[in-house]
Amino acid sequence: MAQKLAFRHLRAIQYRILRRSQFRRTFLFALKAGSPLVRSLLASLTLLAVAMAAPVAAAQKVALFIDVSKPGPKIDRNLFGQFAEHLGHGVYEGIWVGPDSKIPNTRGIRNDVVAALKAIKVPNVRWPGGCFADEYHWRKGIGPQRTVTLNPNWGGVIEPNTFGTNEFMDFLDQIGAEAYLSVNVGSGTPQEAAEWLEYLTTAQPTTLAKERAANGHPAPYKVAFLGIGNESWDCGGNMTPGYYLSQLKIYSRFVRNFNPAQQDKQQMLKIAVGPGGSESRWTEWTDAIMKAYQNHTWSWDMNGLSMHSYTVVKWPPSFASVGFGETEYAQILKSTLEMNSLVEKHSAIMDKYDPEKKVALVVDEWGGWYAPLPGSNPGFLAQQNSLRDAVLAALNLNIFARHADRVRMANIAQMINVLQAMILTDKEKMVLTPTYYVYKMYVPFQDATFVPATLDAGTFTHDGITLPRIDAIAAKDKAGKLWLAITNVDPNQSAEIEVTLAGMNAKSAAGETLSASKVDSVNTFDAPNTVVPKPFSAKAQDGKLTLKLEPKSVTAIALEQ
Ligand code: AHR
Repeated sequence: MAQKLAFRHLRAIQYRILRRSQFRRTFLFALKAGSPLVRSLLASLTLLAVAMAAPVAAAQKVALFIDVSKPGPKIDRNLFGQFAEHLGHGVYEGIWVGPDSKIPNTRGIRNDVVAALKAIKVPNVRWPGGCFADEYHWRKGIGPQRTVTLNPNWGGVIEPNTFGTNEFMDFLDQIGAEAYLSVNVGSGTPQEAAEWLEYLTTAQPTTLAKERAANGHPAPYKVAFLGIGNESWDCGGNMTPGYYLSQLKIYSRFVRNFNPAQQDKQQMLKIAVGPGGSESRWTEWTDAIMKAYQNHTWSWDMNGLSMHSYTVVKWPPSFASVGFGETEYAQILKSTLEMNSLVEKHSAIMDKYDPEKKVALVVDEWGGWYAPLPGSNPGFLAQQNSLRDAVLAALNLNIFARHADRVRMANIAQMINVLQAMILTDKEKMVLTPTYYVYKMYVPFQDATFVPATLDAGTFTHDGITLPRIDAIAAKDKAGKLWLAITNVDPNQSAEIEVTLAGMNAKSAAGETLSASKVDSVNTFDAPNTVVPKPFSAKAQDGKLTLKLEPKSVTAIALEQ
């Protein structure tokens, strides 16, 4: 019976198609005759009918409800932070080409890279590592004579130290970002770190301040964030929580910021090493540090707990960064969504010891980590950046925004030429990645106020992997404008979103959308505009604002009353 009904339904669809055809009469006649030719025609038409039925499924509207009357926490601009380690071509070639280079530069720093980074309003840059930071000795990177050393972590290559403290601070000045310095706890001393901060921040005429002035910067620098160690449970020295805590207390006490402008307001925030995963080893680490924080005395303090989490699926990283299909797309996105439970797990422990949420959870290393590009030095962590990474970035930024009360800073790894980069360079050439464009589209969300947005995301399944179809966040910017960022995760189906607002009547929407033909579409030096945002707009009809989103797309729009 069911089969009969299905067949009748199919016939009805075929009939509707035929009615539209200019050969209607001929085919209707042949249909009755039931010849083999007609049977094969019927089969083709069946396929056509199925194909035509697909957009009907896609057109099923998703109701999105935004409650403007219930504003949430601030989406701290520092969630859009970057990370630049002395690793591969991240710093050398990516930022620094030297003042004598033919590549246009200002005091050795690439002008094209600076302009691109200014456009995404980078709030802060974490430097010099990473694992590199725990082997970094700052004095080798200042003054006219630089010490040439090695970079044993990352390919064992020469570290010329030509990009050092003053060059980093100059770079920050050029792009308009704050400094997030990671001090050497692994192989350095508290004294070395304390002197670095004195060199950077004192306004008094100390010997170190005079040295800074002689190196071109008489005024004290501002250091907004101080990372005390990096992955001290692993590459940073394989410490136990107890051992690390003893170091944290010492560094927190003695590594002082002397900048007069940072004493009352804009105090330097100290970030302790936190977890690197969800297993008990990491929950115990978070527990130990936060318990100590709860009982801390006047002589030490911390303002943030770092967390590192890469989307890698399995070690060593083996997923290709380009030249993959929808299965790998779904696998990577499924894995990246685990960021949500990770944030929640560690936030819950932090809530136990710090219910007022004074300590921020700082996700200062995150992003997709794939197999090194064929032919590249495996120690350089060079990879392409595809539309999949744009979707991955949006999903993570949305997770951070939804936890903005606790997650107040994040640093994608890494800014240029390394892992999930914003920018790729090759000598004088530069290309902006799909991830870069997501950061650009999300600029209005920097320091905006989170506004709850609820929707029935639905799901899509590929190869047994089920993912939410849609993801969205909303926020009000400082000027009071309401912004919406929506990701259509489904690689094949478009989505229609019907927006309903409580407390506002949206008549139109305008912004940008980012998509491309394939999940692994990339921008290259020869084809830099394969994945670039295009304008997006919608107008309310009959009082309803409906947004039509392309498959595998990220869209950011402002809603107008
Ligand atoms: O980002 C690459 C490396 O990953 C960092 O140096 C380290 O902190 C992490 O393990």
